[in-house]
Amino acid sequence: MPTCFAGSNESSHTAKWGNTFRRRFRRRLRKSAGLKILYIGDTVATAGRAMVRMQLRELQREHAIDFTILNCENAAPGNGVTPSMADEFFDLGVDVLTSGNHIWNKKEILPYLNKQSRILRPANYPPGNPGRGLVVAKTRDGEPVAVLNLQGRVFMPTIDDPFRVADTELATISAEVKVIFVDMHAEATSEKVAMGWYLDGRVSAVIGSHTHIPTADETILPNGTAYQTDAGMTGPYFSVIGVMKEDAINRFLTQMPTRFEPASQDVRLNAVVIDVDGETGKARSILRVQKK
Ligand code: FE2
Repeated sequence: MPTCFAGSNESSHTAKWGNTFRRRFRRRLRKSAGLKILYIGDTVATAGRAMVRMQLRELQREHAIDFTILNCENAAPGNGVTPSMADEFFDLGVDVLTSGNHIWNKKEILPYLNKQSRILRPANYPPGNPGRGLVVAKTRDGEPVAVLNLQGRVFMPTIDDPFRVADTELATISAEVKVIFVDMHAEATSEKVAMGWYLDGRVSAVIGSHTHIPTADETILPNGTAYQTDAGMTGPYFSVIGVMKEDAINRFLTQMPTRFEPASQDVRLNAVVIDVDGETGKARSILRVQKK
């Protein structure tokens, strides 16, 4: 009996190590195969949310996506996002939600920002504001992915310096986390381009949001950071950046306060797919995607 007992212990020990080895081997294989990130630009109101509902699963399958990020700051009509909308995005398969200056618009989101770590507001808002601007989440295979949300200051609220805040936030990320995605929410293209160069080689991707128009400048910077000035809006393009064109034109003509109604026609989903080397965190490719 004792021999038999010792023998079964040994075989379970061997089996355990075999499983660990196989898990590590599979993980290494996956890492070298790369990690695919899908980033969906500013998702605007009812039409944008419906488009995400319709297209997300297929897009994830088509591009073998490991991790999905979506900017949600305009998801609610009249800007902002509500907790139930954020929950729906998570249920649909979004891993992390980023945002920007409109994140504060719906008051009910404020306590949610403190409760749910996978929804971000720009990290460079004053210390003490609800929520956070950085999270390390995991893919379904357990690979860590850091997501950092920053906001520019040119033609925008004069919050803290996004460059120095980027330094501070990146310093808190463990060296084991190789894949780092940055959503740079800003009005001025110059500020977004500068951020791309500033973080080149330190993060896997810097992708811009806020201006709602997809730019054709996607590239891999010399030190391995994927860059695009703006991923574009997921919402109605028969509009002025998502709102009824008549309302926007009236504002320009009269310079008087105008109530903006969300538009609903010519809805398109704009996104980028970034392939990242899981061992080094360097981007290998970036692809612009548009669905109608
Ligand atoms: Fe914005």
